[in-house]
Amino acid sequence: MKFDTPATTNPIDQLKVIGKPMDRIDGPMKTSGLAPYAYERHDVAPGAAYGQVVGAGIAKGRIASMDLSAARAAPGVITIVTARTAGKLGKGKLNTARLLGGPDIEHYHQAVALVVAKTFEQARAAAMLVKVTYTRTPGKFSLAEHRDSAPLAKASDPDSPSATKVGDFSGAFEAAPVQFDGTYTTPDHSHAMMEPHASTAAWQGDKLTVWTSNQMIDWGVTDLATTLGIKKADVRLVSPFIGGGFGGKLFLRADALLAALGAKAAGQPVKVALARPLIPNNTTHRPATIQRIRMGAGPDGKLTAIAHESWSGDLPDGGPETAVNQTRLLYAGAHRMTATHLAVLDLPEGNAMRAPGEAPGMMALEVAMDEMAQRLGMDPIAFRVINDTQVDPEKPERPFSQRQLIRCLSLGAERFCWARRNTQPAQVRDGRWLVGIGVASAFRNNMTMKSGARIRLDNKGMVTVETDMTDIGTGSYTVIAQTAAEMMGVPIDKVFVRLGDSAFPVSSGSGGQWGGNSSTAGVYAACMKMREAVAKKAGLVSSGAVFADGMIRVGDSAVSLAEVAGADGLVAEDFIEFGDLAKKSQQSTFGAHFVEVGVDAATGEIRVRRMLAVCAAGRILNPKSARSQVIGAMTMGVGGALMESLEVDRRHGFFVNHDLAGYEVPVHADIPHQEVIFLDETDPISSPMKAKGVGELGICGVSAAIANAIYNATGVRVRAYPVTLDKLLGGMPDVA
Ligand code: MOS
Repeated sequence: MKFDTPATTNPIDQLKVIGKPMDRIDGPMKTSGLAPYAYERHDVAPGAAYGQVVGAGIAKGRIASMDLSAARAAPGVITIVTARTAGKLGKGKLNTARLLGGPDIEHYHQAVALVVAKTFEQARAAAMLVKVTYTRTPGKFSLAEHRDSAPLAKASDPDSPSATKVGDFSGAFEAAPVQFDGTYTTPDHSHAMMEPHASTAAWQGDKLTVWTSNQMIDWGVTDLATTLGIKKADVRLVSPFIGGGFGGKLFLRADALLAALGAKAAGQPVKVALARPLIPNNTTHRPATIQRIRMGAGPDGKLTAIAHESWSGDLPDGGPETAVNQTRLLYAGAHRMTATHLAVLDLPEGNAMRAPGEAPGMMALEVAMDEMAQRLGMDPIAFRVINDTQVDPEKPERPFSQRQLIRCLSLGAERFCWARRNTQPAQVRDGRWLVGIGVASAFRNNMTMKSGARIRLDNKGMVTVETDMTDIGTGSYTVIAQTAAEMMGVPIDKVFVRLGDSAFPVSSGSGGQWGGNSSTAGVYAACMKMREAVAKKAGLVSSGAVFADGMIRVGDSAVSLAEVAGADGLVAEDFIEFGDLAKKSQQSTFGAHFVEVGVDAATGEIRVRRMLAVCAAGRILNPKSARSQVIGAMTMGVGGALMESLEVDRRHGFFVNHDLAGYEVPVHADIPHQEVIFLDETDPISSPMKAKGVGELGICGVSAAIANAIYNATGVRVRAYPVTLDKLLGGMPDVA
């Protein structure tokens, strides 16, 4: 099904199942431990051996020698895989560095060996006996140092040029009566998902099966086949349950490749999990940014000039953090420019992490908006409202498909009692706490991806959905079941959902907050096919057919789906493909974040006290799972604001705090009352579901709202994330 005209009324609009706050259908399996994760596939790969990855001890250079004798002689060792033994390997299109290094080393903890043994303990002990000596080459490890020489990034697609210009920014900025020029920094971030990267691999002749933890099954199959130099048809990836990904599992990683190579060499199934301390340097991370924002406005607060420039770094042939993207779309202003620079660094590969681009971009832009409002003497909400735009500011002929930013801000202001905010900072005390509140807009683009599904109907009236879509903790199983139930007119317990297997039709996968909308739209398309097939087999006309209560009804005729399916059952398959509606109008999601913080007047300790997000993101398919997505994202925004930072060792080029002891993320005790409100919205331009993404919208802007609240509490403006107490202490008001 091609989606190239806006949706009209369709069966989803019945909202009998869609739009209901249903519990997760996979919840009982997960909470009872019955959901098999990649490292636990004893059922399908019994007696698997264990592989332990050895990571490179330098960031750049060459392996001079490798002594495997002690490791080989260690108890239980079956085989050791290195670049030398693995034979010629290709490189996945989506991997920047090779997943098995040697003799050249491209980054710290790049895998150099896999030690396979009978037990996990034996593999781990033997891995420590692998002796590698290196010849080190000097590398570039500091973004700040290499910022000035960083060229404009290469544009990955024509719609995202690395430099944009409208009007005359410099002229308008210089002429503006009120100006702002600020530079912000965001550090490298780690996904820190709960389940580590893990895979169990088994070969049957030339056929490889890998049970893994991957957000994008088809990308993974393609890159694994490319790397191994085998046919895509000979690779099967299975990833039905995933303990979080946040973008760290979008691509093939070392665990999957090395499990496959290890299983080949060992002649038996092999499982590999990346040990937690290996993950931050071995896999990907959100790259650090330096962002300069300039704004010019008249005394009325209307922006006349806005510029956003960003610098980030990556390995050779890597890509930039696209932190300026939202600034092209979020606020009006006739004269504008953006630029995205990319330095070559020899740190581990930078890549997507929850809301790549907007998450760090909004951390800077929305603090700059607060600072500019202050300069103008305006309320920060009023300043945002006056600069709202209902059209793409670069192409005024392109409207937004839906844009309720003002409504999000005003409803949030009302619910959060914004009017009680003291406009003077550092005035409100609650015992030892200085109290402040802050606001930020939320913005994240809505992307759509081609997505397929297969529907089976059996003689018990059971509807089975098969698609390689993944559920990374987001609720895919549930919204897909709701979609099929709505479309086929059956209760949700008559739907069985099978996900995450490359044997199923290729889906959108989970990424870029496109998964919920795109994958259910694919299920919608396949169900449309199934409805036709049912009508045809029942000898009825499909137009005007009503599917309800497990029956198809046309006029006075009604037959149960079970009966129509019969002993042979029925199968239908289709995919949704998106036309160029997204070119004609801009599809984005909007919101507003409100935060109250307390800052200890003596110590500078920061505590978040209250949070509210108001979101406008099209139809909300399941308010319960959507709320979970948003509060999870808000929690991650707390981490970004206050805690998260991979610290770079600038001498040796690696992230020092590469485990969950040193890389801090919020825990329950850090998170206060969180509230989420969804505006009633449908977006017929986004898909037949009229839905959009929320999973990444929820993180965009939160950290800035926290930083703004800290300013309101203390009068100290911090432009370098994370905002930690040491950065406040010098500027705190006198306690006395
Ligand atoms: Mo997302 S960072 O594209 O999983």
